[in-house]
Amino acid sequence: AAATVAGPRKVLLAAPRGYCAGVDRAVIAVEKALEHYGPPVYVRKQIVHNLHVVSTLEAKGAVFVDETDEVPEGALVVFSAHGVSPAVVQSAEDRGLRTIDATCPLVTKVHKEAQRFARDDFDILLIGHEGHEEVEGTAGEAPEHIQIVNGPEDVDKVQVRDPERLIWLSQTTLSVDETMMTVNLLKERFPTLQDPPSDDICYATSNRQAAIKKIAPESDLVIVVGSANSSNSVRLVEVALEYGAKASHRVDFANEVDESWFEGVATVGISSGASVPENLVQDVLRLLADYGYGDVEEVVTAEEDIIFSLPKEIRAALKAMG
Ligand code: F3S
Repeated sequence: AAATVAGPRKVLLAAPRGYCAGVDRAVIAVEKALEHYGPPVYVRKQIVHNLHVVSTLEAKGAVFVDETDEVPEGALVVFSAHGVSPAVVQSAEDRGLRTIDATCPLVTKVHKEAQRFARDDFDILLIGHEGHEEVEGTAGEAPEHIQIVNGPEDVDKVQVRDPERLIWLSQTTLSVDETMMTVNLLKERFPTLQDPPSDDICYATSNRQAAIKKIAPESDLVIVVGSANSSNSVRLVEVALEYGAKASHRVDFANEVDESWFEGVATVGISSGASVPENLVQDVLRLLADYGYGDVEEVVTAEEDIIFSLPKEIRAALKAMG
């Protein structure tokens, strides 16, 4: 019984939150592969950046590896939702691995843009977090054409061959506001910088940020469910703070919620990243109800009905089974 605030206490539950279409598809792909081929099914990197999802799949027989050279020759490997560079695809082929590509179609879209503009001999400024798997995969499409721009702080370092053939692309899970800031600074230096043919920050990222912007100003505390390496989850905490939440914390599980956070808190905002199963959010809501925050209002800022078909390798396997 944590709360030390007089008067009504409530929860504002952001929607949309949680699973996006790309995560749902990638997780189902691994589950179907396990059902169809039996364990072990190897997965290169975490299929999605969520501890609970990874440990649940591990318990069913998925084996997570860092690189394809850890996969026994001839075995089955799934590429994660974040995508892979052509070099990774090649190394899997060289080892005779059977592959299932669970790359989110919206990441593949950015890869295709990178290929196309590299073919047209553009310099590509890829806004994204260096070292993140998605950025490594996209940059690997055309390493000689792509420079990574982490954020506004990198703008001065950018060097281009021909400002008339210059485009920016981005990671799918960035802060919408910070990315626009970076782009505006880049355009001050390079007024002829071209925009991507369509938004690279995906619908799920921008919808979750828009929803948290709505609840943050009214929240004394915002709790975001998501893992530490989940880019879009970490961005949600930042956006909550920028938009007026007095405090914001990220947790993987309800048991990480700390009683001391509720000191003087009347309204708690809740959201979750695109890789987070809803049961983890429900665990947090149950805990909050125990703390006296049982009055939950869902604040809906968009409806999502996007579904992606399963990776073609899985569809083919299921079809062959009849
Ligand atoms: Fe895809 Fe966006 Fe989800 S890129 S995996 S729909 S966060």
